Amino acid sequence: MNHLPAAGLPPTGVEPTARFLRACLRLPVDVTPVWFMRQAGRYMPEYRAIRAHHTLLEIVQRPELAAEVTLQPVRALGVDAAILFADILLPVVPMGLQLEFAQGEGPLIHEPVRSLAAAQRLRRVDAESDLGHVLKAIRILRRELPAGVPLIGFCGAPFTVASYMVEGGASRDFRNTKGLMYTDPGAWHTLMDVVAASAEDYLLAQIRAGAQAVQLFDSWVGQLSPADYVAYVQPYSQRVLRAAMATGVPVIHFGTGTATLLPAMQAAGGSVIGLDWRMPLEQGWQLLGDEVAVQGNLDPVSLFAPPAVLQARVADVLTRAGGRPGHIFNLGHGILTHTPVENVRAVVDMVHTWNPARTS
Ligand code: CP3
Repeated sequence: MNHLPAAGLPPTGVEPTARFLRACLRLPVDVTPVWFMRQAGRYMPEYRAIRAHHTLLEIVQRPELAAEVTLQPVRALGVDAAILFADILLPVVPMGLQLEFAQGEGPLIHEPVRSLAAAQRLRRVDAESDLGHVLKAIRILRRELPAGVPLIGFCGAPFTVASYMVEGGASRDFRNTKGLMYTDPGAWHTLMDVVAASAEDYLLAQIRAGAQAVQLFDSWVGQLSPADYVAYVQPYSQRVLRAAMATGVPVIHFGTGTATLLPAMQAAGGSVIGLDWRMPLEQGWQLLGDEVAVQGNLDPVSLFAPPAVLQARVADVLTRAGGRPGHIFNLGHGILTHTPVENVRAVVDMVHTWNPARTS
């Protein structure tokens, strides 16, 4: 049985000064830290300018470009953390699949994995040799980021990555993924085993390269019932999360549509649990208990609302968090493509100037 380090101070025992890391450890902070999932991307003119000359895959394959794109939202928004510019689907390429980001269609994977034979052909990722360009971007970023802005590494959780590998792209009902689980459990477990082993190797390599926290994105896990999560997914997420937690860096475990899954996700691991906007923040936190930090949970669509409405939504999230140590302000899911940048910046300012006395 593995012993987990307490989600407390890092092994060195030195308290971090960066607010984001302090909040991950549930230490008191001057103001609530804020960053946004998908904070780099097409809603930013600076990103579109680079994207006009390079594909997404070119950007991530060139460490200097990936580092530059990672820094864009740090400069433009004043957020408290940077998230490495990469994509959760990058590891499927060294696993042996062909990945394409088709214009307007999102990711496409050719020859989806729908049999035991196809799952057995997959190769376990060796991050140092297969994804060395991502690790190089991390090393550049650690030199270039300001001291108060830690770098978050990430990877896709086994279920979410496997679902793209089985569906071949985005899905509404996850029919092929659940079909494989229910009709060919041997193939499913073979697939999840190689995806989880790859994710573990990749996250540990990111931490060795300098990532100061990591996030596991299980974006589509809310498609599962709690019983299916426990039977088909939890052991694999647990393997990745526990390996990352054993390093002592904060580990954020994120999913959407997770209201009924939170206890099982927490049991899988994570020192910070991401909440989406469907779950009132204090209810989610109560369900999880005081031993974890929480991240979230503004509805990304509120960023399109008029200023007064947006302000009220931000105030609502902060009020529900109630100034308790261990809240990291974020959206409940990633920033959407046409989001007005000035509204994102306004949210950062609101969070940083929030005065709890105003509400009570
Ligand atoms: O958050 C960040 O700023 C870091 C970069 C990042 C990207 N993808 C870059 C990207 C991160 C953390 C991701 C994670 C990711 N990728 C997830 C989990 C988070 C989530 O939103 O649920 C998922 C499911 C993917 C898979 C993926 N990649 C999709 C569904 C798409 C298409 C969506 C779209 O907006 O077109 C991508 C492409 C992608 N990954 C883009 C970016 C900036 C847009 C690509 C472009 O520039 O054309």
